[in-house]
Amino acid sequence: MEQKYQQFRGQARLPKFAVPKSYDIQLKPDLAACKFSGTVQIAVDVVADTKFLVLNAAELDVDSSSVKFQLQGASKVLEAKEVELFEDDEIMVVEFGESLPVGVGVLCIAFNGTLNDKMKGFYRSKYEHNGEKKNMAVTQFEPADARKCFPCWDEPACKATFKITLEVPSELVALSNMPVVEEKVNGNLKIVKYQESPIMSTYLVAVVVGLFDYVEDHTPDGVKVRVYCQVGKAYQGEFALHVAVKTLGLYKEYFAVPYSLPKLDMIAIPDFAAGAMENYGLVTYRETALLFDEKHSAAANKQRVATVVAHELAHQWFGNLVTMEWWTHLWLNEGFATWVSYLATDSLFPEWQIWNQFLDESTEGLRLDGLAESHPIEVEVNHAGEIDEIFDAISYRKGASVIRMLQSYLGAETFQRALASYIKKYACSNAKTEDLWSVLEEESAEPVNMLMTSWTKQQGYPVVSANVKGQKLEFEQSRFLSSGSHGDGQWIVPVTLCCGSYGARQSILFKEKTKSIDINELLGSTSQGSLVQTGTGGDNKSCESASAWIKLNVDQSGFYRVKYDEELSARLRHAIEKKCLSVADRYGIVDDSFALCMACKQSLTSLLTLMGAFREELDYTVLSNLITISYKVARIAADGAPELINEIKQFLINLFQNSAERIGWDTKQGESHLDAMLRGELLTALAAFGHDETIGEATKRFHAFLNDRETPLLPPDIRRAAYTAVMQSVTKSNRSNFESLLKIYRETDLSQEKTRILGSLGACRDPEIILEVLNFLLSSEVRSQDIVFGLSVSREGREIAWSWMKENWDHISKTFGSGFLITRFVSACVSPFSSFEKAKEVEEFFASRTKPSMARTLKQSLERVHINAQWVESIQKEKHLADAVKELAYRKY
Ligand code: BES
Ligand code: ZN
Repeated sequence: MEQKYQQFRGQARLPKFAVPKSYDIQLKPDLAACKFSGTVQIAVDVVADTKFLVLNAAELDVDSSSVKFQLQGASKVLEAKEVELFEDDEIMVVEFGESLPVGVGVLCIAFNGTLNDKMKGFYRSKYEHNGEKKNMAVTQFEPADARKCFPCWDEPACKATFKITLEVPSELVALSNMPVVEEKVNGNLKIVKYQESPIMSTYLVAVVVGLFDYVEDHTPDGVKVRVYCQVGKAYQGEFALHVAVKTLGLYKEYFAVPYSLPKLDMIAIPDFAAGAMENYGLVTYRETALLFDEKHSAAANKQRVATVVAHELAHQWFGNLVTMEWWTHLWLNEGFATWVSYLATDSLFPEWQIWNQFLDESTEGLRLDGLAESHPIEVEVNHAGEIDEIFDAISYRKGASVIRMLQSYLGAETFQRALASYIKKYACSNAKTEDLWSVLEEESAEPVNMLMTSWTKQQGYPVVSANVKGQKLEFEQSRFLSSGSHGDGQWIVPVTLCCGSYGARQSILFKEKTKSIDINELLGSTSQGSLVQTGTGGDNKSCESASAWIKLNVDQSGFYRVKYDEELSARLRHAIEKKCLSVADRYGIVDDSFALCMACKQSLTSLLTLMGAFREELDYTVLSNLITISYKVARIAADGAPELINEIKQFLINLFQNSAERIGWDTKQGESHLDAMLRGELLTALAAFGHDETIGEATKRFHAFLNDRETPLLPPDIRRAAYTAVMQSVTKSNRSNFESLLKIYRETDLSQEKTRILGSLGACRDPEIILEVLNFLLSSEVRSQDIVFGLSVSREGREIAWSWMKENWDHISKTFGSGFLITRFVSACVSPFSSFEKAKEVEEFFASRTKPSMARTLKQSLERVHINAQWVESIQKEKHLADAVKELAYRKY
């Protein structure tokens, strides 16, 4: 028995002696019992002589006696001789008594399954309707869970058409990828048949059954677009509907192919593991990523809805129409959708300056890829269990960033033309990374494949050092590692540089380890123009003086870091103070400096000194990144220089106070979207660094809000700041603000409000309360998908969070063990530590507890702890840090 069908087991991919052409699927969910039954008829093309059919199935109860193969044309039916399911491999093997003839036949299978609670496969989500608890049935198949709903060839390259039929209670809304073609009511039940889909991958098939309201619109060419949400909340779908209709038009033009289905439904699902899922024609979302309430949602929520919708709709082309050949090329889906979503958002909301905000994507990509435990963009995938973990900052953010880099190198027009021809060439088919490169290479006549391979097949990225030696500017590249270690690797870096003004730009394809250029030539050169989009840099005449600043990676369009020598750094700092540099360049300079400081390649003093040059900063994106950096600096300083922490916090308060005063507490009439977002972030930061006035004002406004939820004193954009502020002083004996927050949490039916509260509770410093917060996260009051928001606790809470996680590990592992939610626990509870001993303790704890779905995350989190520990040591050794900090903290601006 053990030996049986050994040849089919332990394989990364299914054997291809038979491939599916079309599926006919009938499903009957029982929402009360949380079960379903189904049948499937799969037209299969037998391409090689075989007695076996091997396909995917998991957690299904297959009725062996139902399994048959009907030969086409002939009326002959072959009964299966044996049907065997292998849960480890998630496959079923069907053996027939004779060889199947080459050609098309129909495989019929009947099965039963459970509507599970894990937000994967065919699952149930809970909601309330008129005070009554109800279940809805929802699918989430990406990456490899269609097999939990019906037996199928569950690989992205096995595309086929799908005809779906549902049998459901007649009062419910039942949706699938395609429009309904026929509906028959039969007593309390109805049988709903959907139009046959165009050919598509299994991971994009979707079904939703429940009670919903909707809002509707249509595109100029007649595509019907609807946003479905819980009964009574339809108005919250209006914003996403508007974005969707506009975006479909934009993509039609950009990809030069119209949206390929007759309708597009988008639906908010209360229990949803990811942010959203691009199912063909039926896109599913978390409520927070789709719904927008004018009164109670924040500007940041609005932006999130717009970018998520733009991302998922991009997949309708990039992903659904043209699909990656295998998960190794997942980044083609996710990197592109991420990049394109910025293009669409920028076009719809130019005032959001979303391309500046794109820098946050690059930064997160650089952060993960700075680890030795990173992986190349094109990553080998050998087992379905490994796929979940590659939906990470490498596939999404590094992926999107290298696309941006390539686009700036090739030019926007050439790039668009090539993309359109790639979509046309591979429509209804699959593509690999090199397929995209060859189309781009053809259209641009540039060596795209050679250029990009160093970025997608090799993990990591370079740091380019720039040093002035006499009349020469010398460059050197080496792999950047956050640990400060020396790494291998060489990249073809499209280096751009500006010298003293944005008028003259140089561009160099830097392939060598080192290179040197003549500064006089640099100053004399004229604009190359083609490599970088027009900068938004300073127009100040004083910027063009002789000892000019030199900025590499102009507008941060390249995926690399730059290390300047002291002289160049000082000139750049001066240029920042003189307001000569663009938003992107200011952002990049401080971000690189922070990364180098963390890698112990630069002193904390020099980072703080640079940060001090931003005291008059006004831009949202730059300030927002400065705030993120400040939190990390304050945390590491608390471990590495606890005696200086008050001065460091004072310095940070001084740094942000100017901007905070400019922007005030109250929403100004007609103020910009960016100011609205900035206000919340600045006030949250001031509260976090212990600024008494901010905390006092926040508390006052919080109490006004408790008395009147409609008060203008606490609009949604500053609620999080107020919540964080009041949580800081909550203790066991002074817990009323905590209770009040829980009350708001329980009363609101807006997910964004719940999320905001969860994200603030951990700011508390009292260990006992932190433990209460953590236990609350595991209670039935918090949906599994939202736990992550409460896991980032204050520094005072990190030890408690770790013990709590250890104590609850069995439960956590059982409940979240099979998906990516478990990785959130590991990274949130492990990465904040900063000692080698702790790293060891963590390692020991997980030695017997790790599993494939979290292995990568655990290694990365441990590496972060090591990096923090080194950083602490280097701060402890830093000479004159105390003097510098004191000088900075008490400097009067
Ligand atoms: N295809 C993904 C959804 C997904 C993620 C499925 C992980 C399976 C595993 C979807 O297109 C996506 O990328 N969603 C993002 C939101 C997006 C705006 C970055 C998400 O879920 O976070
Ligand atoms: Zn995506």
